[in-house]
Amino acid sequence: VAQDAAKGAAVFKQCMTCHRIGPDAKNLVGPVLTGVVGRKTGTAPGFAYSPLNKAVGEAGLVWTEEKIVEYLPDPNAFLKKYLTDKGQADKAVGVTKMTFKLADEQQRKDVAAYIATFK
Ligand code: HEM
Repeated sequence: VAQDAAKGAAVFKQCMTCHRIGPDAKNLVGPVLTGVVGRKTGTAPGFAYSPLNKAVGEAGLVWTEEKIVEYLPDPNAFLKKYLTDKGQADKAVGVTKMTFKLADEQQRKDVAAYIATFK
């Protein structure tokens, strides 16, 4: 299925309860998402991440559009599976601060494409 960054801008309104994106964006309830594609998980400067989110970055995950699409339906499950698959089940504990879930696959693809336009 094709991705549509313009439709993703509308989907991103749901994320804006907690996140900002763009050249002047700042951390809010959630970390700034400008440049998140290509950034190691849990490394937005000045944001206080959960140990779970940070551990995934330390284990090697760099965000891609595809990984964001996989993450959004169930962020906790995604982060814990990543650590377990890396043989770090001991770190797959606690919960992420990101309580939001996005089930719809087309919306996930569109929002990831939108996010990727902000380098
Ligand atoms: C973390 C995306 C909605 C709160 C993240 C991360 C991504 C993301 C990619 C990981 C960032 C990183 O590792 O640097 C999105 C998208 C959303 C969305 C695309 C909408 C579709 C929300 C909403 C909230 C929220 C609505 C608040 C209710 C957070 C928080 C974190 C986070 C607090 C940090 C998690 C932690 O430290 O465990 N989000 N998010 N997000 N998000 Fe969201």
